[in-house]
Amino acid sequence: PRVAVVFGGRSGEHTISCATAAGVLSAIDRQRYEVLPVGITPSGKWVLVDDDPSALELRDDAPPVEITADGLGRGELAMRLGGGAPVALTAEGPSVLGEIDVVLPLLHGPYGEDGTIQGLLEMLGLPYVGCGVLASAAGMDKQVTKVLLADAGIPTAPHVVVGPHAWRRESEAILEACQSLDYPLFVKPARAGSSLGITKVDRPEDLRAAIEAAREVDPKVLVESGITGREIEVAVLGGRGDEPPRVAEPGEIVMDASQGAGEFYDYETKYLAHDAVAMVCPARISPAERELLMETAARAFEALGAEGLTRVDFFLTPQGQAIVNEVNTMPGFTPYSMYPYMWQVSGLSYGELVTELIELART
Ligand code: DAL
Ligand code: MG
Repeated sequence: PRVAVVFGGRSGEHTISCATAAGVLSAIDRQRYEVLPVGITPSGKWVLVDDDPSALELRDDAPPVEITADGLGRGELAMRLGGGAPVALTAEGPSVLGEIDVVLPLLHGPYGEDGTIQGLLEMLGLPYVGCGVLASAAGMDKQVTKVLLADAGIPTAPHVVVGPHAWRRESEAILEACQSLDYPLFVKPARAGSSLGITKVDRPEDLRAAIEAAREVDPKVLVESGITGREIEVAVLGGRGDEPPRVAEPGEIVMDASQGAGEFYDYETKYLAHDAVAMVCPARISPAERELLMETAARAFEALGAEGLTRVDFFLTPQGQAIVNEVNTMPGFTPYSMYPYMWQVSGLSYGELVTELIELART
């Protein structure tokens, strides 16, 4: 089968997506799959990329692939290479580039993890790995996620929503509403990932600036009470057919400030301070806590209507409560990322996991 691996993208997590793709391209079973890497540059140009995991820096001057809808049939993703002859990636017929059996959209953040490419692929009738349009869009938006989880009785942090227009109309009232929250506060763009645009706020006088900073990333912002608890992540993998989703051993993010970890699990700590963070899997938690986390993660997966994969991130409080911080419908997937690591500990190697995800999409 032919797998189009789509990566890069317009979001602030472009670089992480390239790292994710490099990992997958190195591990994908080449005996089984033929791979077509398709990059999306930071400005949104689609480019064909050499199948070389070590060279995944996408430049805007690479030969572009233009997505066109001209004369397309179902199952075709037409592309025009650098102004040359149009080529079509088709699910059915032969073409310049050949057939595509499944698309692996390894995109993090807006324009990729948020239902947009999923919608494009649905329109084209091409099978793809991971969540569908609604679950992707809902998982990308931290406020919508909260609504769906609350509906399923799953707790998240108390919060105030800062709507795009409301902030301009009534910022004083919003700041006042935030007084009911417990400090430190976390101010987050509603739709972003890898902690981009997030500020920890210790003093009320710093709140306004933090909201303005988050609004630079997304005009919709959440202000949340900081939750005291251990950071535990749980990997969920879709079940085959009607089987329930599978859940891996929970993993804990353990940060060491003396090694350069930030005040919270921010972008720098996640990706740059390698010595400051340990992924401990299985997490050292009680059997009751393990059960609660795994069961809640599976319920969160169902509540979102997720498919394929999702990583559910929790705070485990000292009282043993499992509070969902967020869900990621396309979690980081580098060989050093938590999602594949948790599966490895649970008996599924990185390569086997990629195969399983592709095969889930094809059934
Ligand atoms: N958004 C990043 C990639 C993650 O959740 O792992
Ligand atoms: Mg995230």
